[in-house]
Amino acid sequence: MNHKIEIRIAEDPKFAAKHVALEFAKAIRKNPSIVLGLATGGTPVEVYRFLVDYYQKGEISFEQCTTFNLDEYVGLGPKHEQSYRYFMQQNLFNHIDVPEEKTHVPDGIAQDLKKACQDYEAAIKAAGGIDLQLLGIGENGHIAFNEPGSDARGRTEVVELTENTITANSRFFGSTDDVPRKAVSLGIGTILEAKEIILMATGESKAKAVARALEGEPCGDSPASFLQTTNKVIFVLDLAASQLLSEATCQAAIQIS
Ligand code: PGA
Repeated sequence: MNHKIEIRIAEDPKFAAKHVALEFAKAIRKNPSIVLGLATGGTPVEVYRFLVDYYQKGEISFEQCTTFNLDEYVGLGPKHEQSYRYFMQQNLFNHIDVPEEKTHVPDGIAQDLKKACQDYEAAIKAAGGIDLQLLGIGENGHIAFNEPGSDARGRTEVVELTENTITANSRFFGSTDDVPRKAVSLGIGTILEAKEIILMATGESKAKAVARALEGEPCGDSPASFLQTTNKVIFVLDLAASQLLSEATCQAAIQIS
């Protein structure tokens, strides 16, 4: 292991989420006009709960923040309950003071999806780039919807979801048949340009992907392994997600509570 990724291990998912939320709160206080990269899925829900709590207690404000989400399903509009725009409104945006026009989620129902992807990249650039990016990781090692085989230099584009991802995400839909087959996703190249990245993973189902991302060579079979090639990446894990890491990696990790 010769990469620079910092690993922090919390006892349980709640402590991991609180730690990530505190890192975000600290960054927002330091730079109130920060550009945040945000994620959806089961993992960040608790992080957003903590952030809403800090906002409600007057400890942080999102008034000057700009946000960019990682991805959106193709074909789902903002009012669809499984769309990521809807998820963000329900879990975060509706409860904080971020101006709606400063929140960005890729448009999954754009007439011209290719142009929408280019516009999204341009908007990130115009905002000065992403300062702090939150990531989850798929059981197959994907980051955003960059599935195994993705290019490390990829930019925002329409991608096909793998069966593994469709099955994993079917828990949010009625059945696997209801899960869209395509999504708009930030590319790995775009993600790697973020100034700081926090990847959060909890639960046994992520242990294999986490170990592969941290301990194998950076290569397309594990999109998250490309995070080894950039600076300022922190993995925040719970014990379950860290259980397949080697002893040497665990010894180098920071234990948090
Ligand atoms: P999850 O998804 O947080 O719902 O496990 C993470 C991901 O697929 O990136």
